[in-house]
Amino acid sequence: MNPAARNAVANAARAAGASVGLAGETIIINGGRPLTGRIEVKGAKNLVTKAMVAAILGDGPSVLRDVPAISDVRVVRGLLEVHGVTVTDGDEPGELILDPRGVVSAHMVDIDAHAGSSRIPILFCGPLLHKLGEAFIPDLGGCRIGDRPIDYHLEVLKNFGAVIEKLPSGIRMTAPEGLVGTKISLPYPSVGATEQVLLTAVLAQGKTELSGAAIEPEIMDLINILQKMGAIISVDTDRLIRIEGVTSLSGYTHRALFDRNEAASWAAAALATDGDIFVGGARQPEMLTFLNVFRKVGGAFEIHDDGIRFYHPGGELKPVVIETDVHPGFMTDWQQPLVVALAKAHGVSIVHETVYEQRFGFTEALVKMGATIQLHSDCLGAHPCRFGQRNFQHSAIISGPSHLTGADVEVPDLRGGFSHLIAALSATGTSRVSNVGIISRGYENFIEKLRALGADFEIDA
Ligand code: EPU
Repeated sequence: MNPAARNAVANAARAAGASVGLAGETIIINGGRPLTGRIEVKGAKNLVTKAMVAAILGDGPSVLRDVPAISDVRVVRGLLEVHGVTVTDGDEPGELILDPRGVVSAHMVDIDAHAGSSRIPILFCGPLLHKLGEAFIPDLGGCRIGDRPIDYHLEVLKNFGAVIEKLPSGIRMTAPEGLVGTKISLPYPSVGATEQVLLTAVLAQGKTELSGAAIEPEIMDLINILQKMGAIISVDTDRLIRIEGVTSLSGYTHRALFDRNEAASWAAAALATDGDIFVGGARQPEMLTFLNVFRKVGGAFEIHDDGIRFYHPGGELKPVVIETDVHPGFMTDWQQPLVVALAKAHGVSIVHETVYEQRFGFTEALVKMGATIQLHSDCLGAHPCRFGQRNFQHSAIISGPSHLTGADVEVPDLRGGFSHLIAALSATGTSRVSNVGIISRGYENFIEKLRALGADFEIDA
């Protein structure tokens, strides 16, 4: 690694550490107050990070707008910088300029130091193989691979002609013959694997046909970006995406799609706290499925040109039966915040999680606060899923209404953590919520937003 890139490692690592700020911190919440007011959401975490990677494919700089100040963005920025991509802040708040003209290979140790537990390095592979002929992925560690497999990604890259070599420290990939378009059928419409195909196929020689693709709005926005860069991509019916490889791509200028997961989280917070939150920047089309469920639970909303108002209109909340699914289904990232409102609903709700096998760990804290939630390994939904016979506790029965009372809880992960915040905000009494730094991975300025919405809390550093 050259000295400039090594400096960038140190700077970015420092910046990431410093700006996470809240990592490991505890907030003490006095619950029971409705959250009311207006907050803004920026670009979607699950698009922006990929859009930043896509900039590597361009022959010139790209401009990305509405980039949220979240730690996942800082991680990707650091990773780009160790690869020689220059990332600077633009004139507009939340604008990044990404110049890939100095792209270089990075050392495995430096990639590892920056990536942490992020899966993003795997998405660098296609672009780096095109630009440099080689790419590295650090060893994600035994149980981490088990929990977060990358088998689809590796299979996709092999299909394009990547040669994969397992080293003690990770995986090295080369493309001695270049990457060539191919026919791929995904066993499951994985978001990441679909992005892997897109980011690799656009510069591969010839045509690529992907069946079983994920079609989340964030993927469609990535396709918008790639098309702006010069790619030829068509989205057909039945999850079929066709890409005609081109020989070069330019930079792009793009305003990122809003973060519908953040918007849904604040909507759930409004409902669970009897509140009224206007989420500026939220849009109806990408939230259609969420809005239906929100209404069925007893929430109300108003669609405006500049955002959506979510509120508790009074009366009892109602139970629902939901199954998480790939788009256009009910997103897995929406269930954790909504479960808090379901705990307050009058009757029995069922949530069948079909995307991730272990995504109900967060319910333990809710039970501690007084919720009645039982986990089951059976598929308690209309459709049996991949996890049915495998002993994963992936269905939850939530019996309400429960009165939540404050407790000491520790944030386990991003969405589970936000759910804990909502539970503490809606509970009677005081809660200590520790490890809240994780929440800044995906929620921009959530502490300031809580303040703006009238939450009663203090930070116990
Ligand atoms: N899977 C495999 N092998 C692979 C890849 C995925 O078995 O090689 C499995 C996963 O274990 C999971 C399923 O496929 O059971 C779906 O995973 P997918 O690849 O779709 O998810 P992802 O790309 O890793 C993104 C988001 C998640 C979001 C999911 C589903 C990012 C950075 N992450 O993950 O967001 O839940 O798609 O929509 O885009 C979050 O924001 O908190 C979050 C977890």
